[in-house]
Amino acid sequence: MSASRGYGRAAVTGGASGIGRAIVERLASDGFDVVILDRNEALGRSEAEALRARGLDVDFRAIDLTDESASRATIRALSPLTALVNNAGIFDDRSFFEASTDDFRRHYEINLVALAVLTQEAARAMAPGSKIVNIASRAYLGAKSHPHYVASKGAVVSYTRAAAMELASKGILVNAIAPGLIDTPLLQVLSPERRAAQLALQPTGAAGRPEDVANAVAFLVSPATDFITGQILFVDGGKSLGGTSA
Ligand code: NAI
Repeated sequence: MSASRGYGRAAVTGGASGIGRAIVERLASDGFDVVILDRNEALGRSEAEALRARGLDVDFRAIDLTDESASRATIRALSPLTALVNNAGIFDDRSFFEASTDDFRRHYEINLVALAVLTQEAARAMAPGSKIVNIASRAYLGAKSHPHYVASKGAVVSYTRAAAMELASKGILVNAIAPGLIDTPLLQVLSPERRAAQLALQPTGAAGRPEDVANAVAFLVSPATDFITGQILFVDGGKSLGGTSA
């Protein structure tokens, strides 16, 4: 990895695909040295190489973030980070009555527990002014389906607030983004009918782009947000407004 261009090092989990990949590109373009942490080795390596070929400072570490000791060791090796973006997550669309205890455990393991481990380890070494951004989901407000996902993202919001309270005195700022429907490979689990139903709830009439979330992350890791912590920023084209009325 070459020397920083001034913004320091950012780690982006799940940076091989979808929203994470767009965040990696945006933060690297803004001047961060970016490290992708992802379990998809083939994709992570090729994305990092493609971005490096464009002159961006992007590295890749293959890791399953549910492996706690590997996660802690990786963060220690990369520390001090000036930004940590906890973006990796999983989603399946099982209904309320189909959702199993295993679905709840799997979703909590990556969507919440891995995020908490990385945050705790990164924060130990972060300097004042460093930023942590957690990717939650608008779904935390509630949905009829996938209760395991909804609840895991609600936990991300609560954890973000708890971490913000603890870390504010160290000058480390922690915020979350709650994206709405964003066009990424994650949505491939939705049937065409379920996707159409989701789009029907969308005031803008269309899904967002990964870049829409990346723009919000770029804002939250910038010095412009040095007095903002514990906040949840919706990037959802207005879906969280609760529906339109005639
Ligand atoms: P994606 O499926 O395109 O990318 C997720 C990435 O996370 C993949 O590269 C995957 O390999 C990685 N990952 C998953 N589990 C991992 C693990 N245990 N260890 C290491 N890497 C792991 O998904 P997308 O859409 O880009 O989602 C990113 C985040 O945004 C997730 O937290 C998701 O819940 C959230 N989100 C997505 C929305 C959407 O409509 N796409 C809406 C709201 C939130």
